[in-house]
Amino acid sequence: MNPKPEMELLRAMTLALQEASLHIGRTAPNPPVGATALGAGGILLATGAHEQPGTPHAEVVVLDRCRAENIQVDTLVVTLEPCNHFGRTPPCTDAIIAAGVRRVIYGVRDPNPRVAGGGIEKLLAHGIVVEQIDASKRDECDILIQPFRKRITTGRPFVTVKTAHLPGGSMIPPFGRKTFTSPASIRFAHELRKRSDAIITGSGTVLADDPLFTVRAVADHPDKKRLLVIFDRRKRITPAWEAAASSRGFEIIRHDDIEAALDDLGSRGCLEVLVEGGPSLAQSFLLQGLWDRHVRIEQGRSALEPDIIRTVLPTAGTETAPAASV
Ligand SMILES: NC(=O)c1ccc[n+]([C@@H]2O[C@H](COP(=O)([O-])OP(=O)(O)OC[C@H]3O[C@@H](n4cnc5c(N)ncnc54)[C@H](OP(=O)(O)O)[C@@H]3O)[C@@H](O)[C@H]2O)c1
Repeated sequence: MNPKPEMELLRAMTLALQEASLHIGRTAPNPPVGATALGAGGILLATGAHEQPGTPHAEVVVLDRCRAENIQVDTLVVTLEPCNHFGRTPPCTDAIIAAGVRRVIYGVRDPNPRVAGGGIEKLLAHGIVVEQIDASKRDECDILIQPFRKRITTGRPFVTVKTAHLPGGSMIPPFGRKTFTSPASIRFAHELRKRSDAIITGSGTVLADDPLFTVRAVADHPDKKRLLVIFDRRKRITPAWEAAASSRGFEIIRHDDIEAALDDLGSRGCLEVLVEGGPSLAQSFLLQGLWDRHVRIEQGRSALEPDIIRTVLPTAGTETAPAASV
């Protein structure tokens, strides 16, 4: 028995979300976007994503694939409302109209105040059926573009503060160590780096740990260049340390003021930034309310007990349930 059309749309959106997720951390200043093309009867034709700035948008990626094989697209499922403006690439709405697509299913509207709504209206004006995906999938589409939404509406990037804690709560590693969490926690921390456009740290961390700040525990985006923002009013970090960090691919920026740093990072196009400082810098971000997500990695109480990763959101006020045990 064939599945119901709605199930096919949900499945197509899941594929589009998965494709888009592969490129989180690579698309700034653009949002990650995924799309899936379905043929008549809901047959899966192609799925793809926007990979990095200057490359085709997700809708065009899948439409081009179908055109190359001479296949007519019936329904295009896309995580974000198709754009209707000329940027580095022509409007996706034009490509959708030209391809003779019958129906477009989108996840969320474009939050960019300069273009909001224009895509849907234009498609409707050309007789294309336009519908929003079922509510059960909208949240995932919304979470995907949270950092883009933050930057486009406030001018500042989405800020994740990551802190690791010993069972007693301290962030200071045991004598002679730089890290104390499990290999799985370290992989998770490197995933956070991978999706970030900038790493933010303080002089205390650099002097104590001499961290590399590179993505090593997971495969990084091959061509990614990140900013490394250093807070060091007393100028204790040496030019030699900065030169070594530059040779690892970082562009180094110094800042003394958190708000000015976030404005600067937003204007440079960063969508997501990761604070990897010691207790002093981490608390500064948290106490000033200049954060969007606090990831607390808590070391297990014994070698047999897994670490716990808690994700704390500013709106929640208190900690959410553990996100994962690793
Ligand atoms: N467990 C973890 O997650 C974790 C992560 C990183 C580091 N650590 C540990 O933390 C320890 C170092 O702690 P820490 O607190 O000294 O390091 P830190 O927070 O990385 O750096 C502190 C420095 O950052 C600057 N800073 C902090 N807040 C600021 C603000 N609001 N505005 C401007 N500048 C600001 C100051 O530099 P100036 O004094 O020059 O102005 C301050 O001395 C080390 O033992 C390290 O191993 C732990």
